[in-house]
Amino acid sequence: AVVAPHERVVAAIDQGTTSTRCLLFTHSGRMVAVAQREHRQHYPRPGLAEHDASEIWRAVSHVVPAALRRAGLGPENVAALGIANQRETTVVWNRHTGHPLARAITWQDTRTDQIVAGLDPELSSRVSGLAPATYFAGPRLQWLLDHVPGARAGAEAGDVLFGTIESWLIWQLTGGPAGGRHVTDVTNASRTMLMDLRTLRWSPELCSALRVPERMLPEIVPNAEVYGTCKGLLPGVPVAGALGDQQAALVGQTCFAPGEVKCTYGTGAFLLKNTGTEIAGADTGLIPTLGYLIGDRPVYALEGSIAMTGSLVQWFRDALGMISTAARIETLALTVPDNGGCYVVPAFSGLYAPRWHADARGVIVGLTSFIERGHLARAVLEATAWQTREVLDAMNAASDLPVSRLKVDGGMTANHLLMQCLADVLDLAVERPLGSEAVSLGAAYAAGLAVGYWPDMEVLRRNWHRAAAWEPAMDPDVRRREHANWLRAVERSMGWAHA
Ligand code: G3P
Repeated sequence: AVVAPHERVVAAIDQGTTSTRCLLFTHSGRMVAVAQREHRQHYPRPGLAEHDASEIWRAVSHVVPAALRRAGLGPENVAALGIANQRETTVVWNRHTGHPLARAITWQDTRTDQIVAGLDPELSSRVSGLAPATYFAGPRLQWLLDHVPGARAGAEAGDVLFGTIESWLIWQLTGGPAGGRHVTDVTNASRTMLMDLRTLRWSPELCSALRVPERMLPEIVPNAEVYGTCKGLLPGVPVAGALGDQQAALVGQTCFAPGEVKCTYGTGAFLLKNTGTEIAGADTGLIPTLGYLIGDRPVYALEGSIAMTGSLVQWFRDALGMISTAARIETLALTVPDNGGCYVVPAFSGLYAPRWHADARGVIVGLTSFIERGHLARAVLEATAWQTREVLDAMNAASDLPVSRLKVDGGMTANHLLMQCLADVLDLAVERPLGSEAVSLGAAYAAGLAVGYWPDMEVLRRNWHRAAAWEPAMDPDVRRREHANWLRAVERSMGWAHA
């Protein structure tokens, strides 16, 4: 066994956009086992992106025992279970049968553009902190209530429940139709456009603007607290922590002091800066959000969300067949010295932070007969770096505390070429901790704090160790030229869907 048979671990479920994982952590924050399962992506039409919430629950039911088996442990070794999840993905289900009424609508789906256009931006920004966008869950819930037969009547009668993915999973884990707890953690709630960001309660004004019956909404709970006890899966283990995956990474990277910043590179990329007790950054193209509520005082964060980074590499692999595995993109990009004048803007579901153009679509520009696969691979990787640069520029403009180093995590950080490119275009040191599993670690930390597995947050800081760092090495003139070219490419992507 990788840990002693009597040792206790904390389990984390990371329910992401493309896959579900269960990871087990020890006191030192070391990961001792992981199991993973992908789920199907449904793209019924351009702009639509759906998941089957039951398939996701089945994936959880598979990966949790699989991770324990790998570690040679049983449920009695698990001190607590924490959850991190893809945020803004919207599920409605029947509380008596436990079946979803329709496929979950994911955060990348843009079908709510008409609903969003009709919302009052002043009301939404003032109460929820969010400028209306198709990204958030509330408009999706309105769409489901308006389009799925029986949904609105069921919600009004108390039979149909709403939740983001962590809410759905906690309900299932704690008993489902036989008494499962219907809660949502405060960070996920902050992404619905239905919660008051100051009081951390559902806003009657926003619920009425989006025509959402409050009866179907889960109870909003802190991030580290025993929500209930697992029934079938991990019997007796407390479900004790939940955070949206990006806030989980903020905790996993131990960005506990105002000014500390992390960026997680997964399907998309999400840069979050701890802003302490202050709600900062309205009207900057960034998202004021709840960082975490662990203990008495909420800690806020400012977020720059980028819709496509890892998913662009997947598209390059699966839709274009340019590479056999995602990791091969680095090898392919290294066959050429530069991008050859080619740029890819991955606005597949519009441009997110800091521009928020729902009508932008992807473009590839600068094509000549000279361009080969290697140049495209470079341009795909550089798109991630330049999108991060746009967010970082907005972040620096919004704050007196400029970002001085960037802590990174997530699957894409295994790509050295990308990490060097990032340091080059940001002109900033980039640092990766030992184990790039900050999302899961953050969920484990929250659950472990709730049950006293870790005594306090200071102890967690001592678990953070730097494993790799990249320093900027790009000629400033080259950086300026490439930046100008990137901006010209972005100009061409905007407005495409409405032209
Ligand atoms: O806001 C969406 C985000 O939470 C999705 O995260 O890790 O699935 O790309 P990920």
